[in-house]
Amino acid sequence: MNSDILLGLQWGDEGKGKIVDVITPKYDVVARFQGGPNAGHSLEFNDKKYVLHLIPSGIFHPNKLNVIGNGVVIDPAVFKKEIEGLGLPLGEVIKKLIISSRANLILPVHRILDAANEKSKGAKKIGSTLRGIGPAYTDKISRNGLRVGDILSTNFKKRYDEHTARHLATIERYNFEFDLAQYEEGWFEGVEIMAKFRIENSEYLLNNLLDQGKKILAEGAQGTMLDIDFGSYPFVTSSNTISAGACTGLGIPPKKIGEVFGIFKAYCTRVGNGPFPTELLDSTGEDIRKAGFEFGATTGRPRRCGWLDLPKLKYAITINGVTQLFMTKSDVLSGFGTIKVCTSYIVDGKETTELPFTFDNAEPVYKEFAGWSGDITKIRKFDDLPGNLKDYIDYIEKYTGVPITIVSVGPDREETIIR
Ligand code: GDP
Ligand code: IMO
Ligand code: MG
Repeated sequence: MNSDILLGLQWGDEGKGKIVDVITPKYDVVARFQGGPNAGHSLEFNDKKYVLHLIPSGIFHPNKLNVIGNGVVIDPAVFKKEIEGLGLPLGEVIKKLIISSRANLILPVHRILDAANEKSKGAKKIGSTLRGIGPAYTDKISRNGLRVGDILSTNFKKRYDEHTARHLATIERYNFEFDLAQYEEGWFEGVEIMAKFRIENSEYLLNNLLDQGKKILAEGAQGTMLDIDFGSYPFVTSSNTISAGACTGLGIPPKKIGEVFGIFKAYCTRVGNGPFPTELLDSTGEDIRKAGFEFGATTGRPRRCGWLDLPKLKYAITINGVTQLFMTKSDVLSGFGTIKVCTSYIVDGKETTELPFTFDNAEPVYKEFAGWSGDITKIRKFDDLPGNLKDYIDYIEKYTGVPITIVSVGPDREETIIR
């Protein structure tokens, strides 16, 4: 059997958590392959809302395995809080959640470094979630990291102290005040909780399950425009958010990848700094933010809003090898008289559909669509959607050459149209 991948095609927050939860019944395993507590994946069902940061979005379904893969960076303090917030008995979660021994740990000093580094950048800051992501991946790549498997060793505390001391020496170079004890709060308790879980070389487990005919869904975090290689660098995160990241982040070989589901909003949002050519800085942007409740699931920051950017979507489809598109938040655009879509850019006076190197000198060229109105959240059949929305969908499919097979019309599990 092959493993399918679900990932974001924009700047994150496309609705990955919601859709993973919706399609989990078709799978045996849901596995997160990169990112860490910078992610905030929201799920809604039975009038309850949950936000997951590290735990895969299949966790609420019975009899499904969830794996935190080797490509993820884990903050034990966040892990502990998240486990406690699930409202599920610990014994049940332990049965269905496995952590890769090879996943790197986010240490309290990584969060201090993140904060000190961002502060030193002043106006040029990335707008990081300050969860320690960049410094933790830096340690991983420079071969200085501590990994989940290390927490089981008898000299773990000694190694923790050595790593912390090394970083504290670096932090001294910044003019940054901090209280280490405050940053360490909950961290060691989190390590204790993690030690109760199955910690293993999960690449064996996942490949064995595929060989037995089980179905795996790889869940991405962030989005393609935040990818370390292909995103709007340097305003990106520190991991490969693209489909290739599922191979390195889980140990699943490329030939065992099946469908690649690319998810996008009917418009575009971005939280944090960096170029955003279709950003709306006017009242329309404000209206989208209000209608879509566009505030970060991890930091609560207001998300920047703008029109859908098709050259970027097409680029993301190419880089990821997307086979099916899922469109979310169609309901949010209901009531906007005219809807615009960016179809190309003007770069240095020339029209192009290619993304420029730095992303930031692209002037969008728009096509206008007549909007739709009314409450569409109760619609469950594609044919019942307003004609103008179906035209919008049809245009996106033609532009990208990829079918839109799920249309999400609200945050709840039920508010989903599967074609
Ligand atoms: P993720 O990071 O990709 O999982 O997305 P987030 O959870 O950070 O942000 C998506 C937000 O939109 C969450 O608040 C979801 O509950 C909500 N959402 C998802 N799909 C829809 C939809 O189709 N319509 C509306 N109105 N909200 C949605
Ligand atoms: P999900 O999985 C949206 C953004 C941050 C910042 C940049 C770098 O919920 O879609 P980092 O904390 O990684 O150093 O931040 O990336 N960012 C996200 N934006 N959704 C996310 O995750 C994000 N994770 C990171 O706002 O601009
Ligand atoms: Mg999110």
